[in-house]
Amino acid sequence: MLEYLKLENVGPAPAMEVEFAPRVNLITGDNGLGKSFLLDTAWWVFSAAWPAEVNPAMTTGLVARPRDRSRSSIIRFRTHSADEKVDSEGTYSRRDEAWTDRESFSMTPCLVVYAHADGSFSVWDVVRNGWMRKGNGGMLSSKPPYVFTESEVWDGLKGVVDGRVVPACNGLLRDWSSWIKAKDVQSKAMAQALRTLSPDWEHGDRLEPGSPMRVTVDDARDIPSIQTSHAGTVPILHASSGIRRVVALAYVLTWAWSEYRIAADLRGVEAVRQVTLLFDEVESHLHPRWQRSILKALRDVGKELLDGAELQLIASTHSPLVLASAEPWFDPKQDAWFDLDLDGDPPEAKLSRRPYTPRGTPGAWLTSEAFDLATERGSIEAERAILRARELLKQSDASVDEVMEVHKELRRVLPDVDRFWVRWNAFVEDRGGTP
Ligand SMILES: Nc1ncnc2c1ncn2[C@@H]1O[C@H](COP(=O)(O)OP(=O)(O)O)[C@@H](O)[C@H]1O
Ligand SMILES: [Mg+2]
Repeated sequence: MLEYLKLENVGPAPAMEVEFAPRVNLITGDNGLGKSFLLDTAWWVFSAAWPAEVNPAMTTGLVARPRDRSRSSIIRFRTHSADEKVDSEGTYSRRDEAWTDRESFSMTPCLVVYAHADGSFSVWDVVRNGWMRKGNGGMLSSKPPYVFTESEVWDGLKGVVDGRVVPACNGLLRDWSSWIKAKDVQSKAMAQALRTLSPDWEHGDRLEPGSPMRVTVDDARDIPSIQTSHAGTVPILHASSGIRRVVALAYVLTWAWSEYRIAADLRGVEAVRQVTLLFDEVESHLHPRWQRSILKALRDVGKELLDGAELQLIASTHSPLVLASAEPWFDPKQDAWFDLDLDGDPPEAKLSRRPYTPRGTPGAWLTSEAFDLATERGSIEAERAILRARELLKQSDASVDEVMEVHKELRRVLPDVDRFWVRWNAFVEDRGGTP
């Protein structure tokens, strides 16, 4: 797992320092403050590569560049796995325009899966992608990690072995069908993953695999399917974005874990049961029902799917429901919440660890430091009217005309059920107006 990360002169702020928790780490903050960048860096720590360097089709995860080219840029970090701590750093070489001097030879024994916000995935494991000695000269080399665009997750990824192009990964459509047909352990693992990630399995909100089926005459593949309560069996190509996002995650986890174990077997080494899952915008495409269950599901996915592996989750979110969903189980010894804000003059992104205190409702989270909204109201019009009204409530000399003008605006934009009316109507009466 990643314990510590410090960025100097790189990314959205002059410096950024984080001590991560061993289980669930949540990152909030406005657009553009560096959540995705922090996750890209976390991935680089393990893999020594930036996602877009590995796969040029990626539109995110570009090589990190210095803020100020006249100063040196350094990324310091500490990882921890199987009683081994790795303290290391990398520096940016202006001449090479690349990250060099990274003490890459001390790799962390683990598996890292990065779910990008746009549906792409990056995977690195120490057995397949770590450094090893090759040939008589004992040259150290490593195989590049696996970086899939969204369509490559479905259709597969090519690699090169001994100068020949071979499938590095068959992709979800082929693999899942063949697992089901062969009744492989992966088929069971995939079903278990879907069960874990289903919003409410007991009450019928289930993601259950169906039989693979042909979709058109022109496509020779048997396409895996999902059983739905309302539309029968639906080929996975036709499923909703939310379902496809979760199925892709279940697949990448199942594939990465089983390939990591197979590779360890082939090489005669141990596959250390330690997984770091980086997840950008964990709520994307998900219905609120699902947003409420996803975090806990990811917290437990290591135990239930990855043979009891210890799983560290580092996830960014813009969803008050995701934050609120951790209230019953959030444990400050194992979990942490980090918030990015603009601070100082000129304003710069600043990351702070915040105490996670239950707030009861997603609305209350909207007005917390996580989202910094002035009120919980959905519309800007209602919020502006309330803020104006609140100003007036503080003024002892507000005239009836002023009060009634604000009252009229409130009537226009605020529904009758809003609890602000109780206080406001009393105030209007007090000032001699008619609510
Ligand atoms: N490859 C990069 N090199 C240097 N800085 C970057 C890079 N990518 C993103 N950033 C910095 O991060 C900011 C965007 O952050 P991002 O992680 O996309 O925000 P968020 O995910 O919080 O919306 C940019 O304004 C820029 O300052
Ligand atoms: Mg982002």
